[in-house]
Amino acid sequence: MPDVELEVHLTDAERAEALRRDARRGLTATPKWLPPKYFYDARGSELFEEITRLPEYYPTRAEREILAERAGAIARITGAKTLVELGSGSSEKTRLLLDALREQGTLGSFAPLDVSGAALRDALGALRADYPDLHLHGIVADFVGHLEVLPEAGTRLVAFLGGTIGNFTPAERAPFLAALRARLAPGEWLLLGADLVKDPAVLVPAYDDAAGVTAEFNRNVLHVLNRELGADFDPRSFAHVALWDSHHEWIEMRLRALRPMTVHLQALALDVSFTEGEELRTEVSAKFRREGLTGELAAAGFAVRDWWTDHLDRFALTLATAV
Ligand code: AVJ
Repeated sequence: MPDVELEVHLTDAERAEALRRDARRGLTATPKWLPPKYFYDARGSELFEEITRLPEYYPTRAEREILAERAGAIARITGAKTLVELGSGSSEKTRLLLDALREQGTLGSFAPLDVSGAALRDALGALRADYPDLHLHGIVADFVGHLEVLPEAGTRLVAFLGGTIGNFTPAERAPFLAALRARLAPGEWLLLGADLVKDPAVLVPAYDDAAGVTAEFNRNVLHVLNRELGADFDPRSFAHVALWDSHHEWIEMRLRALRPMTVHLQALALDVSFTEGEELRTEVSAKFRREGLTGELAAAGFAVRDWWTDHLDRFALTLATAV
């Protein structure tokens, strides 16, 4: 039986150092900000899974609909031998791709890449039983700046799903796509999931649900800082804010201080003061248009072969080839 491998390129010490650096930079900036990747501790990952089942949060369902319809075509077109998934999390939707590629008989290995070793171990354990013939190669790494670790084995299909590309600002997207392109040979593939620009009346509730799950998810980053950096944030003193920035065409999540306060971060020997009403930006979730995304991919050296959307045109799955 082919083995399960777990390759670690990001140690706990490196992760801790990155958090200290990012928290210090973001919390001493004006306006204050934090990178969205720190939402996803065990509790945050659970809350995110809960978000994907909310009636207001359409992206997961829309992407699953497209994958279910197009997985066969993706397998046929790419003939991939290795499926790489960036930011794989639970790899739940990815099974649609694995099944189609397996049916076709080309697939030899699956390489999920995630910052969370725990999430990867769980995902690989669950996959092991259902895909006994597949070589499973988990990679613990940050997909920003760690792309040199992509395995090299036959034609690769790199899946970057869920709309996570939206967490980059345009200035971060270009170098990320160029770095990814540089790791691939001409003729290899990128499958990119991207949420589309639409009516703010649909977009905003997806990030501000009636049940308050997204609000809890947002505040969870403060719990992470409390635990990891010995901080004393009172998460209940921050209100969840989700707004549509029509100029940048992105959703922004923020945490608004409900009273003036000073927070101490022990691990940074840092005091951070908030005025009443001051907002801390916790996430950008960019939304895309076909021409814009196709242009950005072309600039990075990818040619879009297919652009598929769900039946309500909310979300797009793009299959592009390295040229
Ligand atoms: C996992 C980054 C795609 O931006 O929609 C969900 C994260 N934030 N609700 C997104 C998220 C608030 C999600 N991504």
